[in-house]
Amino acid sequence: MLKLGVNIDHVATLRQARYKGREDVGEPNLLAAALTCEKAGAHCITVHLREDRRHIQDRDVFELREKIQTRLNLEMANIQEIIQIALRVKPDIVCIVPERHMEVTTEGGLNAVRQEKYLAGTIGRLLDAGIEVSLFITADPEQIRAAARLKSPFIELYTGGLAETVGTPREEKELERLIAGAQLAHELGIKVNAGHGINYMNMDRIYRIPHLVELNIGHSIISRAMATGLEEAVRQMLKLMEPYSL
Ligand code: PXP
Repeated sequence: MLKLGVNIDHVATLRQARYKGREDVGEPNLLAAALTCEKAGAHCITVHLREDRRHIQDRDVFELREKIQTRLNLEMANIQEIIQIALRVKPDIVCIVPERHMEVTTEGGLNAVRQEKYLAGTIGRLLDAGIEVSLFITADPEQIRAAARLKSPFIELYTGGLAETVGTPREEKELERLIAGAQLAHELGIKVNAGHGINYMNMDRIYRIPHLVELNIGHSIISRAMATGLEEAVRQMLKLMEPYSL
């Protein structure tokens, strides 16, 4: 069964727009949102603790770790300060992502080939601490082979390229790249997650990507929640994921 990790960063984005520095009293309440996602059936709560702390704050991560009942997926850049926090929080899994200061949201995958040397130490430290590791990469065979050399148990395939080309002539090529990437990762013994830009309209394309374990979805669920409420938005996404089969 394909699992759903709900990325709740944008709940914190809304809170920070008004309550920066007063997060404990601010709306919307991040923990309440996480618990609602769990109530609706989400399998994992995902948050990205960015170096600039633009949405998720340190205390959020510790509170979620303590209070949620499912799994905590901490997205983070490969930087010492955040690695230290991850080692204290001990999320179930860390997904290492690239972070560019001017970006609105994560844009594309990590360059695991170029950063292999720097990633090796971090992955080792996290695994030694009993934390699973995933690398957020594009479905490029060289990146996937680097993840295998690094012995990363998981990768998360960047689906933003597919999301941007749905309905255009480039869509099929993007999808084929993801299908081949998932296949290669599976052959190399890596478990495959996927995320970025997945929504209620493009989920049928995701069905064609084999060997997926979990999807991480944020923006579309939080956006739909404005109309339906968060619990119903998560339920609708889970329903859409049901037809997926390996
Ligand atoms: N996975 C990763 C690694 C991400 O960085 C993001 C965006 O923060 C997502 C999934 C979720 O993307 P979206 O908000 O487009 O669903």
